[in-house]
Amino acid sequence: MDAVQPNFFIPPRPPIPERELPLLQFLRAIRTNALTMWTEKAYQEDVLVRRFLGRSHILLNAPDAIHHVLVDNHANYRRSPASIRILRPITGNGLLLSDGEDWRLQRRTTAPALAPRTLPVLARHIVACADDAIGVLGAQTNQPIDLLAAMQNLALDIAGRSMFSLETRQYGAAMRRLLTEYAHNYSKPHLFDMVLPPAIPTLRDFGRRRFQRRWMGLMTEIMQARQAAPATDTPRDLFDLLLAARDPETGKGFSPDQLRDQIATLILAGHETTAVTLFWSLVLLAGAPDEQQRVADEASGVDIAPDNAMAAMPHLARTRAVVSEAIRLYPPAFALAREAIGPDRIGTIDIPRGAVLLIAPWVLHRHRKLWRDPDAFDPSRFMPPPGSGPGASAPPVPRFAYLPFGAGPRVCVGAQFALAEATLVLAMLIREFVVTLDDPVPVMPVAIVTTQPNHPPTFRLRLR
Ligand code: HEM
Repeated sequence: MDAVQPNFFIPPRPPIPERELPLLQFLRAIRTNALTMWTEKAYQEDVLVRRFLGRSHILLNAPDAIHHVLVDNHANYRRSPASIRILRPITGNGLLLSDGEDWRLQRRTTAPALAPRTLPVLARHIVACADDAIGVLGAQTNQPIDLLAAMQNLALDIAGRSMFSLETRQYGAAMRRLLTEYAHNYSKPHLFDMVLPPAIPTLRDFGRRRFQRRWMGLMTEIMQARQAAPATDTPRDLFDLLLAARDPETGKGFSPDQLRDQIATLILAGHETTAVTLFWSLVLLAGAPDEQQRVADEASGVDIAPDNAMAAMPHLARTRAVVSEAIRLYPPAFALAREAIGPDRIGTIDIPRGAVLLIAPWVLHRHRKLWRDPDAFDPSRFMPPPGSGPGASAPPVPRFAYLPFGAGPRVCVGAQFALAEATLVLAMLIREFVVTLDDPVPVMPVAIVTTQPNHPPTFRLRLR
């Protein structure tokens, strides 16, 4: 691939180990920061196999091989025991972890509520929440500010209001406290989490179960608050749609437990990922003032009001390109892990039953063979060709080399909503404020459930 062009900003990333890590260091890397476990070879090869704890662990970078696992033969692959253990306490049996017929029913009922045609209803809440947040941030200009916390609160507010017509302020602090406790104590895989099947509990699973009871208790409280709201004739939000959903075959709706797990899944999957997307977009724009100016120029000419939020989207191509580039460089879902249910063959590689396959957007998006200047921040790779009008599509990036939202039947159900949210909020923030990073300690990405910063860096905002 070409050498890096000198005017590009190379954003922070952890150093790449020179040699394959010995077992103990490898295990430590998985637990403390999975982004540090891959050597340079991982960013160059199509496939990398490592025997580890008696199983084959296979990192796939070849787009065809990834297509095979996520699409062609997806039924042969399920979530790995470690992912199930880690996610179950916060998502229960909702869409993310369900399987088979249960998953099909949940997907059929949830997907229409997040389809492009319902986005205008949801997007009005995005703009209203962002307006409120800008009011609060406007009172804190020219002083150190924690924009990670600000983006987490905003994303939670958006999830609460657009999906459940709820003010999350009263629940926000309790949710954040529980999520922080969870991230510190239960989200990192330990040895037994990886080797034992999910049916056999590890010591940590007992703590996870206690946590799950408290977290789901909070979800029940939110659900009851929502159900106390007077009914309306037309669905106002995702909750109304889920409540009305019926299995076409049996006519049955969701049970209270299923509904609660779905809410937990959507709140979690829908806010933490978008919060870090916004956070990393701000880090990137703070490091590339010219690019920030371009976004501000674009956004200042666009009418972004609650009533026409989705109509504004085609006029925000540069902002959207920044978001796309932010989730290329810092994919919130840094790795998708699958376990082979039965043996398989992918190209020339034999996949034994029980093998763990890793498709790692963190590696794939920085792969030397698939991307020009892979470590450089260059939103123009996602821009429509010069001269094309508003709404024109960006040049295609290789589909299976860019997987921030996964692919195949289990592709992210909230992808369009997330892209609309990140683009609209970023445009509104940048047209209002000049954003700079004001922290002597460089911010580094760390893989903890999502791609988080290693500390909440201090930013500064100045009115534009
Ligand atoms: C930038 C933001 C987001 C990113 C990067 C992201 C990423 C992903 C990825 C990679 C998957 C596939 C996981 C796999 O195959 O193992 C996924 C699934 C999922 N996402 Fe998202 N997501 C985002 C936002 C959202 C939002 C806003 C919602 C809900 C409103 C959501 C709900 C879900 C659900 C329910 C699934 C499971 C789908 C299934 O298994 O059928 N996500 N997401």
